[in-house]
This record gives sequence, C-alpha cells and structure tokens, in this order.
Amino acid sequence: MNQLADPSLIAANVREIKARAGSAPITHALVLGTGLGEAFSQLPHSISIDYADLPGFPASSKSGATISGHAGRLIIADHAGLRLAIMLGRAHVYQTGNPRCMAVPLASFAELGARELLLTNAAGSVNTDLPPPTVVLIKDHINLNGPNPLIGLGTDQAFVPMTQAYDETIATHLQQSATALNMNLAQGIYMWFSGPSFETPAEIRMAKNLGADLIGMSTVPEVIMGRYLGLAIGALSVVTNFGAGFAGGAPHHGETKEKAAQGASDLFKLLMHYLASSAPSPSSSDGR
Ligand code: HPA
Repeated sequence: MNQLADPSLIAANVREIKARAGSAPITHALVLGTGLGEAFSQLPHSISIDYADLPGFPASSKSGATISGHAGRLIIADHAGLRLAIMLGRAHVYQTGNPRCMAVPLASFAELGARELLLTNAAGSVNTDLPPPTVVLIKDHINLNGPNPLIGLGTDQAFVPMTQAYDETIATHLQQSATALNMNLAQGIYMWFSGPSFETPAEIRMAKNLGADLIGMSTVPEVIMGRYLGLAIGALSVVTNFGAGFAGGAPHHGETKEKAAQGASDLFKLLMHYLASSAPSPSSSDGR
C-alpha cells in the first residue's frame, strides 16, 4: 500500500538488511536525534550498516550532507527477544525541503515487520517546567509548517486519522518504565518548525500561546508517515534549550549538541527498560 517511497528502493534495503543481519523480522524501529545515539551504537549482538550502503537512507541521498551531531548508521540489534532497527541520525526536511526525506527508511522497516516506531529528538522548550536537559514524552503535536509528507499520494488512505497519533499504550508503558527507574518523565506538546534557522522570539511566543511545550525541527513528518504505514508511535524529546527570547533562551546548534549529550543517558536507560519490558512472553497475548 505504501507509495510513499520507491518500491525498488524498499526492496533493495530489505534485501541488504536481511543479507547482513538475517531474516528475523524487525519488531521496533528507533530514530535517534542529534547527539542521542552514542550509547545505542555500543549495544551487544548488533551489526552496523552505513547509510551509504542503504539506498534512499539519509547519507546516500542526493543532498549528501549529514549534519554535525548525526552519525549516519543503521544498527540492527537483538535485545530482550526483540529485533531493533536503530537509526543513528535522520534526514531533516531542512536539508532538502522534501517532507518525505525519511520515507524510504520508515517504509523499509515497515516492510521488514516493524510494528512500533520510537522517535527521539533534541528540542527547545517554551515551558519553564521543562528546562534542559529534561526528557519529555510527546503527547501530541502542532504542525502549521505547510509541508505534509502525504501530499500528492492520491489515495483515500492519505487521510490518516491523527486523533491518537501518539500511541497511548506505548506512552503508559514508557511512564511505567520511568517510574521503575525513578526517573521523572514529563509530558508535552511538540510544535514543528522547519528550520534550519531557529525561531524568532515572536514565533516562540506564538508557539507558547498555541499550546506548545516543545519546539523542534524533526519528528512530525515521521509521525505522519509512520501512522500512514500503520506503525504505533512513541516519541521522546530531550530539552536542550529554552526557545529564542523565552527564559533567556538564545539557541544555537552547539548548545543543542552539548545538552543533548546530557539527556542522552537517561533516554537510553528509559528506552532500554521499555524495550526489555516489551519482550514477548508466552503468557501474554499482547507481547507484554
Ligand atoms: N528550536 C527548534 N529546534 C530545536 C531547538 C529550538 O530551540 N532546540 C533544539 N532543536
């Protein structure tokens, strides 16, 4: 059903990933944002594939550029009876203007069997209760950006309901993992700005007035495509700064990378705990 991406690219990636990692189905796909991937690259029982070997993945796209702070590798890891496809680094709409720039990886994971998509990002905050480096569960989003990755699909399936875009069961289980780890997991609404320039103070005031808690340059198109592909979505932000002009915020990319590293270890522990408690068990029918 997915014409989001060229089927021949999806088939090539499925072949390549199976050739390197075997044909066990992927259960969970993870996308790790700026500065958040380091710990995941050390996972035992994992193999690493350069994006350059995966057609349509970010580094092999015509745009080329990987942005500093983004690694450009896919890790396939077996963890607690699950098979994870972990993207260290994503493509952003701000690189090419293409809202489907993550379509090939996401559609390939869906084709390989993934049922959950766990998205992470570094984000600005417009809520003084969410200072850097708080980890925040995204409950919903606001997209007034214009581009939507489903524009032009020409099928009724493009009218994807977004009433519960962020899966409530995943959210509940992430909160339970945070409690078990004695970690505070805040919740918030994420507003997407295209970037790459940061927002103006007036735009930040608007975001706050519209009900946003977080602002960022990624994730939202991935959520929309993930829902189109039938994936259940969980999403987490690490707050790296306050928005421009808000509580002294004056964001720049160096700060994003530095603060993301501070929140990254909490994010890693949280996701690993969540995944371990998602492991299939013979006595549970929903896999938990
Ligand atoms: N604005 C947009 N994206 C971001 C920010 C921000 O302040 N911080 C990290 N990503």
